[in-house]
Amino acid sequence: MALLEVKDLKVHFPIKGGILGRTVGYVKAVDGVSFTINPGETVGLVGESGSGKSTTGKAILGLERITGGTIHFDGENITKYIGKNRSNYRKSVQMIFQDVNSALNPRKRVYDIIAEPLRNFEKLTRGEERKRVDELLRIVGMTPEASYKYSFEFSGGQKQRIGVARAIALKPKLIVADEPVSALDLSVQAQVLNYMKDIQQELKLAYLFVSHDLGVVRHMCETLAIMHNARFVEYGSRDDIYNDPQHIYTRRLIAAIPDTDPDLRERNATNRALLTKEYEQEYTKFYGEGGKVYDLKPYSDTHYVAMP
Ligand SMILES: Nc1ncnc2c1ncn2[C@@H]1O[C@H](COP(=O)(O)OP(=O)(O)O)[C@@H](O)[C@H]1O
Ligand SMILES: [Mg+2]
Repeated sequence: MALLEVKDLKVHFPIKGGILGRTVGYVKAVDGVSFTINPGETVGLVGESGSGKSTTGKAILGLERITGGTIHFDGENITKYIGKNRSNYRKSVQMIFQDVNSALNPRKRVYDIIAEPLRNFEKLTRGEERKRVDELLRIVGMTPEASYKYSFEFSGGQKQRIGVARAIALKPKLIVADEPVSALDLSVQAQVLNYMKDIQQELKLAYLFVSHDLGVVRHMCETLAIMHNARFVEYGSRDDIYNDPQHIYTRRLIAAIPDTDPDLRERNATNRALLTKEYEQEYTKFYGEGGKVYDLKPYSDTHYVAMP
C-alpha cells in the first residue's frame, strides 16, 4: 500500500482587489497533480521556480489550505484533518527547509531546538529526553557537545544537520525536503545528500525531495515528477526521466544540468541552444491554450507524459 496518495491536488490563492478587498481572481499555484509515495521511497519533485513545488509540499504538511483533491496517508483519507492537530499524521510527516537560518530559532540552544517536538508530542523524563537528543545528534553525525551551543555558531551544512535531527525526532515516515541543499556550497551538498540517504535507510524514511535542479536529485530519487505551470508535465521512474524524457520541458531541464566535465561543456551548450529553438517551435505540441499543461497520458507502465 502506498504511504502517501495525492489525487488531483489543487491549491488556488485568492487575489483580492478594489477597496472592498473582494476576490477578483485566483493564482492557481497547484492545479491538479496526482502522485504516490511508497514506504521508504524517494520521489523527486522538480521544476523551475514558481512552478508550484513548495505549495505542493506545504499542502501535504497542512501549511496551505487545499482547494481541491484528496490526500490519503497509510490508506486513510486525511484531507479534512490535515491542517488540524491530528497528532498521528503531524508526527508522521515532517519537513526540512532550504533556508536553514530562518528554520532554527537563534535564541535557543541546539538541545532545545531538537527537544521541542519531543516535548510537544511525547512525555519523556529528563534523562530519556537527553538520551534521545544525543541519539538524534549521532544519527546526523554530530556529537552531544553540539547541543550546548546556539545554531548560529554552526556552518550552513551543520545547521542543516540540526534541522534534520529535529525533523526526525518523532520518527516520521515521510519527510518533505524542500530544496534542502540549494543554499549550500557544492562541496557540502554531496555530504548532506549522502547522510540523508544513510538516515533514510536507518529509519526507513520516505522523502518528497523538491528541487529546481535535475542534477541534484539524480542519485536520490526512484521516481520523478516534473512540474511546470502548476501541473506535472512528466512522471516516471528515474530511468524513464533521465534516459528517455518525452516532454520538451523535461528535456530542457536535463540539458540545464550543470556540466562537471569541461569536455562536455561545448557540446551541451550547442544542445541547449537547439532545444530552446525546438521549445519555441513545438510549444503548441506540448502546451494548450494559455500554456495549459495537458493531462498525463501513459507512455509505458511506469512513465506518463502530458500530451494532447
Ligand atoms: N501565499 C501565496 N499567495 C499567493 N500566491 C502564492 C502564494 N504562495 C505561492 N504563490 C504563487 O504560487 C506559485 C507557485 O509558487 P511555489 O509553490 O512557491 O513555487 P516553487 O516552489 O516551484 O518555486 C507562484 O506563482 C507563487 O507566486
Ligand atoms: Mg519553492
